[in-house]
Amino acid sequence: MESGMLKTNSLKGQTFIVTGGGTGLGKSMTRYFLELGAKVLITSRKIEILEKTRDEFKQFGMDNILPLQADVRDSAEVKNVLNKGIELLGPVTGLVNNAAGNFISPTERLSPRAFDAVIDIVLKGTVNWTLAVGKHWIKHNQPGTVLNIVTTYAWTGSGFVVPSACAKAGVLALTRSLAVEWAKYRIRTNAIAPGPFPTEGAWSRLLPGELAKKLDPAQKVPVGRVGEHQELANLAAYLMSPFSAFVNGEVVTIDGGEWLKGAGEFNHMEQVTPEMWDTLENLRSKG
Ligand code: HXC
Ligand code: NAP
Repeated sequence: MESGMLKTNSLKGQTFIVTGGGTGLGKSMTRYFLELGAKVLITSRKIEILEKTRDEFKQFGMDNILPLQADVRDSAEVKNVLNKGIELLGPVTGLVNNAAGNFISPTERLSPRAFDAVIDIVLKGTVNWTLAVGKHWIKHNQPGTVLNIVTTYAWTGSGFVVPSACAKAGVLALTRSLAVEWAKYRIRTNAIAPGPFPTEGAWSRLLPGELAKKLDPAQKVPVGRVGEHQELANLAAYLMSPFSAFVNGEVVTIDGGEWLKGAGEFNHMEQVTPEMWDTLENLRSKG
C-alpha cells in the first residue's frame, strides 16, 4: 500500500500543474508524479509553503518542481501562472484540480460569505484553472488530461459540509460534461472521489478540537482503516498517465467502501452477533 505502482519513468515527458500541491494529498500526488519522471508546477496562495515543499523534494533529487503563487479564485493570476509555467517548464500536459476549502458547521449558522468562501475556491477555482488550461490546449491543438479531486458526498450530498457538497457536485458535473464536450480536442477529464485520508488541512477543519477523539473516521470504513496517501497517488498517476487513455468521464471512488456502508439498507446488521443469528435461524427452522 505504501509503494509506487507504475513503472519507472511512466510519466517522463509529462508536465503537470497541481493546485494545492504544497500540502496534504496534493503534495503526495506531486511527490509521486516527480518520482515517475514528470515535471510539476505546484500552485496555491502561500508561496512559502510551496517553496518549503520544493526544497524538501529537491533534497531527494526531485528537481523538476516549480512553485508559483496563485489564488484559484483569481482568473487573471491563474492565466499568468499558466503562462509563466509554460515559459519555464515547457508545454503543460495535465492539470490536477486539487485545491479546496472546507469547514464543518450546521448550515443554519453559515453566512452568505461562508458559502462563497468554499464555492469560490472549490467550484469557481476549478473552473478558472480548467478554462485557462483547456483554452490554451484547444488554441494550440495540444492534447491534455484533467483530473478533479471531488469527494464521495459529491453525489450523495452531506449535512454539515453543505457548501463543499454543493461545490464538489458542481465539479462532478463539470468533469462529466467536459469529458464528452472536449474529447474531440483530445482532452480527457476524470475525477477521484477520496474517502478519509488524514491530512492536517482536512482534519483541522472537519474534526476540530474534541471531534477528532470522539469520531474516529476509520470506524465508518468497512475495510477498517483510513487511506494511505500512496494509494491515492497511485490512482492519480494512473489517471494522469497514457495507460488510462481510454478512461474518460470516470469518477473513481477510493474510500474502502465507506459511502456504500452508509447507503445499504441493512448494512447496520453488522451489529447482529453470531449468537443472535443462531437464534434467528432456530426461530426460522421451527416456524
Ligand atoms: C462557519 C466559517 C468558518 C467555519 C470561515 N467561515 N470558517 N463559518 N464555520 N468554520 C466564514 C467566515 O466567518 C466568513 O464569513 C467566511 O467564511 C470567509 O472566511 P475567511 O476566513 O475570510 O475565508 P478565507 O480566508 O477565504 O478561507 C477559506 C476557508 C479556510 C475555507 C474558510 O478554511 C481555508 O483557507 N481553507 C483552505 C484549506 C482547507 O479548507 N482544506 C481542507 C480541505 S478538506 P463572514 O460572514 O463571517 O465574513 C476537504 C475534504 C472533504 O475538502 C471530504 C473529507 C472526507
Ligand atoms: P489541504 O492540505 O488543506 O489542501 C488544500 C489545498 O488547497 C492547500 O494546499 C491550499 O493551499 C490550497 N488552497 C486553498 N484555497 C486556495 C486558493 N484560494 N487558491 C489556491 N490554492 C488554495 O487538504 P487535503 O486533505 O490535502 O485536500 C486535498 C483535496 O482532497 C481537496 O480537493 C479535498 O476536498 C480532497 N479530499 C480530501 C479528503 C481527505 O480526507 N483529506 C477527502 C476527500 C476529498 P494554500 O492555503 O497555500 O492556498
